[in-house]
Amino acid sequence: MVVVEEEEAEAEVLVEIGSYGAPVRLVCDSSEEILLLWAIQQPTLSKHNAFVRQSSLRLNVDACGHRLSIFQSPSSMVRFSIFFFFILLVFELGNCAYCSFGTIYVLSLHSSSNGSIPGVTGAVMWDSGVVLAKFLEHAVDSGMLLLQGKKAVELGSGCGLVGCIAALLGAQVILTDLHDRLRLLKKNIETNLGDGDLRGSATVGELIWGEDPDVEFIEPLPDYVLGSDVIYSEGVVMDLLVTLRQLCGTQTTILLAGELRNDAILEYFLEAAMKEFIIGRVDQAQWHPDYCSSRVVMLVLVKKSEKMGCED
Ligand SMILES: C[S@@+](CC[C@H](N)C(=O)[O-])C[C@H]1O[C@@H](n2cnc3c(N)ncnc32)[C@H](O)[C@@H]1O
Repeated sequence: MVVVEEEEAEAEVLVEIGSYGAPVRLVCDSSEEILLLWAIQQPTLSKHNAFVRQSSLRLNVDACGHRLSIFQSPSSMVRFSIFFFFILLVFELGNCAYCSFGTIYVLSLHSSSNGSIPGVTGAVMWDSGVVLAKFLEHAVDSGMLLLQGKKAVELGSGCGLVGCIAALLGAQVILTDLHDRLRLLKKNIETNLGDGDLRGSATVGELIWGEDPDVEFIEPLPDYVLGSDVIYSEGVVMDLLVTLRQLCGTQTTILLAGELRNDAILEYFLEAAMKEFIIGRVDQAQWHPDYCSSRVVMLVLVKKSEKMGCED
């Protein structure tokens, strides 16, 4: 970790972390970071899903001289909402003398939009995926990141845009997700990377956070671990951290883009992650200029070596 500059007035430290070549703001205190993020970016005031249309079957994104066409499966979300609606209906009817349809409907939508049930999220794109994908392109173009020939593992790939762009930028990417997400993922890779004009490579594998990873993911350990909108539920944070720990060596750089939709979940993640990782926040000035969003945060993480921290 190289300390570049200390801004005393704001008590912010700029550092270079891992293989990302530009200075980022060191995260030293999780609750302060959350206060700062919500105060500066005011995420709830800006447009939700500015770069995606979750109701459409395809999302077109131009990157690396290609037009990528990413298939989505919005019906999975609708099917799930209807299924969950009826489960709750039966439950409430069985348990209460009275039953409010409004309560049930709001509960079902809240649950699915929070993405708290694995297997349902990932069927459509989220802004942070587009932001991370375009950030990779911009960072490579501006010389801040080198992906050519590097091994990258993407966690919770969903529709696969981030991994596809990393492969176009020269990385040897393994896109991963839960088993029932892999069909859509494979379809998107075949559709977008099948013509042979590829600097890197892309394969797909099942990787369940918290479980022992297959040998292909860790031998050798990846140079990069990528993830967009993977910090979306308190229930997955600890498993996600187990997987990050398993995949990261001293030479691994983690790049995560997160949606600023729930301060408590992000704080929970930061607090736990800071025990083992050095975390930096990438300023929006370093993102792709056309793909900035105040509802998204970009983080760089590296595993702490002995006696490393904010004081060092
Ligand atoms: C909110 S989606 C984000 C998808 C995609 N990265 C994006 O930005 O559009 C979260 C992703 O994490 C995956 N996921 C959730 N829990 C998981 C787990 N325990 N192990 C592996 N993947 C998981 C989901 O299947 C889903 O694809």
